Amino acid sequence: MSETVRVLLSEEEVNRRIMEVADQINRDYAGKEVHLICVLKGGVFFTCELAKRIQVPVSLDFMSVSSYGDDTKSSGVVRIVKDLDQPLEGKEVLIVEDIIDSGRTLYYLMDILRKRNPASLHLCTLLDKPERRVRDVKVDYTCFNIPDEFVVGYGLDYAQKYRNLPYIGVVEFHEDSEEA
Ligand code: IMP
Ligand code: MG
Repeated sequence: MSETVRVLLSEEEVNRRIMEVADQINRDYAGKEVHLICVLKGGVFFTCELAKRIQVPVSLDFMSVSSYGDDTKSSGVVRIVKDLDQPLEGKEVLIVEDIIDSGRTLYYLMDILRKRNPASLHLCTLLDKPERRVRDVKVDYTCFNIPDEFVVGYGLDYAQKYRNLPYIGVVEFHEDSEEA
């Protein structure tokens, strides 16, 4: 088996859309500060690109949760691998995620973060696969809704590969033929 990656959203399209979403955040948070929570590892590229375009004061913290193994299927198990460094009490918190798929990860994460008494708690995602949802999650900012395909790039991986691609692509698997 070999893999190739087909471009779904080009670097230009992604960057243009991030600018639009950042503009919306700038309007919504005008006069406030925003505390971005990057969900590692997948959210890291999107968090950086988004944060650079936000004009209100930004602080950043990082969290790592695990719900997937090295394959394309959800295990349904969500656990905190790395917790935040700072408290959320009184802060305008915006979670920045790479993709919302079943919604299990964010459902769980928002529940535990809400208990830490932020002034507000919102969610921003680069990608959403609404058809795949099994838990109801309110998404405040979505860059792109995408079909139910396994995507990589811009932080998203397949077996830890392809995170560094500057675009969003779909992994395609091929049976290697004798001549190939
Ligand atoms: P959920 O809990 O099913 O919503 O899964 C969310 C997490 O699954 C994301 O943060 C990703 O790490 C991973 N994931 C879901 N779909 C994809 C995909 O198409 N490509 C890469 N990772 C994915
Ligand atoms: Mg993720």
